[in-house]
This record gives sequence, structure tokens and C-alpha cells, in this order.
Amino acid sequence: MRIGIIGSGHIGGTLTRRLRDLGHDVTVANSRGPESLRDLAAETGATPGTVDQAARSGDLVVVAVPLKAVPQLPPAAFEGRVVVDANNYYPQRDGDVPEIADRSVTSSRWTADHLKGARLVKAFNNIQAQHLLEKGRPAGAPDRIALPVAADDEEAKRLVMEVVDALGFDPVDAGTLDGSWRQQPDTPVYGTDRDVEGVRQGLAEVRP
Ligand SMILES: NC(=O)c1ccc[n+]([C@@H]2O[C@H](COP(=O)([O-])OP(=O)(O)OC[C@H]3O[C@@H](n4cnc5c(N)ncnc54)[C@H](OP(=O)(O)O)[C@@H]3O)[C@@H](O)[C@H]2O)c1
Repeated sequence: MRIGIIGSGHIGGTLTRRLRDLGHDVTVANSRGPESLRDLAAETGATPGTVDQAARSGDLVVVAVPLKAVPQLPPAAFEGRVVVDANNYYPQRDGDVPEIADRSVTSSRWTADHLKGARLVKAFNNIQAQHLLEKGRPAGAPDRIALPVAADDEEAKRLVMEVVDALGFDPVDAGTLDGSWRQQPDTPVYGTDRDVEGVRQGLAEVRP
């Protein structure tokens, strides 16, 4: 697959490494520009690009940036693409976004509202980058971690669930973008590395 990755930090850098290991064609971008990505490109074989280039290059595009940076992304470059939203809202980092803070909208709905026309899928937001790097396991392994995947677009969701599986994690259908508060920070599935049953139970039991 051709995959664009926006953000080259903990999550974007990890996914660049892991998806290149699986043989995907990856274009990666950050805020400082392609020159700053020379080392990551040399290490992984990914192509450094601008945000616009990375987004337009991908059959699948991952957005792994501080949530406050989302309004700076150019919506036209993401239109019609399957976009993985790995982000979380942290007020101390991202500032006050009243509609997310008061839970009127999920952070993924807020992101989808900005990236109008993108086929948004929430995934990878609830696992530590280091575990994403190191804890992938083959299907059926007893210690395989499960990851919730939420989207309104079922076809896009299936595609991302296949990628989650290929990376060594059990994908769990977590419903829609408006229901994705169930996997946001401070929920039972957030950062807890549960298995399939544990994730299903956590999603079912959590209260707003
Ligand atoms: N760290 C984790 O374990 C973890 C786990 C799950 C989810 N998340 C979430 O994933 C997102 C990324 O977290 P992270 O830990 O990977 O952050 P990080 O290490 O600080 O990396 C953030 C990346 O976003 C890039 N960026 C910032 N503003 C940008 C813009 N306007 N355009 C393009 N790129 C921009 C930065 O570019 P520069 O490199 O040029 O500064 C950097 O590469 C956050 O929403 C976080 O809550 C993190």
C-alpha cells in the first residue's frame, strides 16, 4: 500500500518504521519539512515529504500530531482518503477546545469536521508508541494486544483493521466516530494493553 504519515514523532516515527518493515511505500512529513526527515528516511527507506505530498501520496494517511495542529492541516489534500486519526486531546498540550472538553464532540469528530471529505478512522490512539513498536505478535499468540478501531465508513474501518492485524494486534470494531469517546484518554481501554475480550468489555462497560 502507499501510506502517508503526518507526524514523525513517537507515533508517526513508530508507524513509519513498522509499516516500512511490512514493505509498504511510506511518505512521511512533519512540521519542520523534508530536510529534517533525512535520518528517518535513511533508516527506514521512507520518502520524506511535505504534509501536502504525504497526504496526497497515500491510499491510507495516518495523522499523528498534537491535536492543536489539526486545524493547520490542508483539508483538500485529505479529501476522499482513508485517514487514520491516532490523536488524543490533552488540554495542557492542546489548549482549550471547549466542545471536546465539555464532551459535546469526540476528538475524532472534531478532526473529521476539520478534514471534511476524509474517511476518518480512529485507531492507535490508545497504545503507547513503545508498545506499538515492540509488542506486535502473530495472530493467535496468547499475549496479543487488541486495539479498538472506530469509524463511520465501514469499508475504511475494515481496511484499517487489516493494517492493525498485519502490525501484530487484534483489531476490535469499536463502533462510530461519535462513539469513539469510549477509547479516549481515561477510559478502561486507554493504555492498558488488553486482549480482545478485555477491550470489548472495556468498551461496553465505560460510562460517559
Ligand atoms: N506518544 C504516544 O505514546 C502516543 C500514543 C497514542 C497516541 N498518541 C497521540 O498521537 C499524537 C502524536 O503524538 P506523539 O507522541 O507522536 O507526538 P510527538 O512525538 O510530539 O510528535 C508530533 C509530530 O507532529 C508533528 N507536527 C506538529 N505540528 C505539525 C503540523 N502543523 N504539521 C505537520 N506535522 C506537525 C511534529 O513535527 P516536528 O517533528 O517537525 O516537530 C512531530 O513530528 C498526539 O495526538 C498524541 O496524543 C501518542
